[in-house]
Order: sequence, then C-alpha cells, then structure tokens
Amino acid sequence: MKIQIINGPNLNLLGRREPGIYGSSSFDDYLQKLRAAYPDVEINYYQSNIEGELIDKMQQIGFSCDGIVLNAGAYTHTSIALQDCIRSLQAPVIEVHISNVHKREEFRHHSMISCACAGVICGFGLDSYRLAVEALKGLATQAAE
Ligand code: DQA
Repeated sequence: MKIQIINGPNLNLLGRREPGIYGSSSFDDYLQKLRAAYPDVEINYYQSNIEGELIDKMQQIGFSCDGIVLNAGAYTHTSIALQDCIRSLQAPVIEVHISNVHKREEFRHHSMISCACAGVICGFGLDSYRLAVEALKGLATQAAE
C-alpha cells in the first residue's frame, strides 16, 4: 500500500511553531516513528508553503497512490482550488489537522476542502496522521471486499 502525506504552509516549522498548539516534535522525527509502525505501507512525504505546488503534487500522485493524508494548513479555510483538485483525483483524501480547529478561532471552523474529502480527523496532535493512515487502510480493505 502506498500513502502520500502532504503538509501545507508553515507545517515545515513543526516543533518550533507555536509548540503549545502544535507540539514540540518535528515532522521528520514523527515520520520516522510512523514509518516504523507501518513497515508494510510505503509512506511518502511532501511539504510546500505554496498552494499551486500542493495541487501539482496531488495531481501527480493522486491517480497512482492508495490514499492521501492532507493537512492543508491555512489553505484549508480558503482554497477552492484545493477542493477542485481533491474532487478530480482517484485516490481518497483524508483531511487532517493537528489541533482541534473547532476549539479555536471562528475562521478555522469552516473548511473549504472537507466536502471533497473521504473524511476528516482533527485534534489529536500528530497522532491525527496515524489515525488517517488507519482510515485509509480501512478504506482499502473495504474496497477489496
Ligand atoms: C492546522 C489548523 C489550521 O487552522 C492552521 O492554519 C494550520 C494547522 C492544524 O494542523 O491544526 O496551519 O491545519
């Protein structure tokens, strides 16, 4: 199974960015542990601060991988272009947030991409990504039945 994790803007600063909200682990450290926990899954990782680059990456892999775990950062709340992109792909996309966006400022309560995603996971810290991998494994099993 091949899963692509995609992180959007400012998520390259994980570990240093507002640690009270996003924790003190870098994504690279977390990713090492996640890959070790799923030796049978190929987990690829991409991060960009640029909306168009996120779209390019999703178009590139969205017809060949088994699922995408997407934390679109602040583009979650603004991007119709990302919503259109997600709708265009074959691979299911799970929207992920580290923080519980519904406990935070009101502008974070609305997502432009949830309606195009297979599901949404938020509020479990970095463990949100593992939960999304589990969700994609579940979807793949269902599809094979
Ligand atoms: C985030 C929540 C977004 O509102 C914010 O803009 C981010 C991170 C999260 O993972 O909790 O950059 O997606």
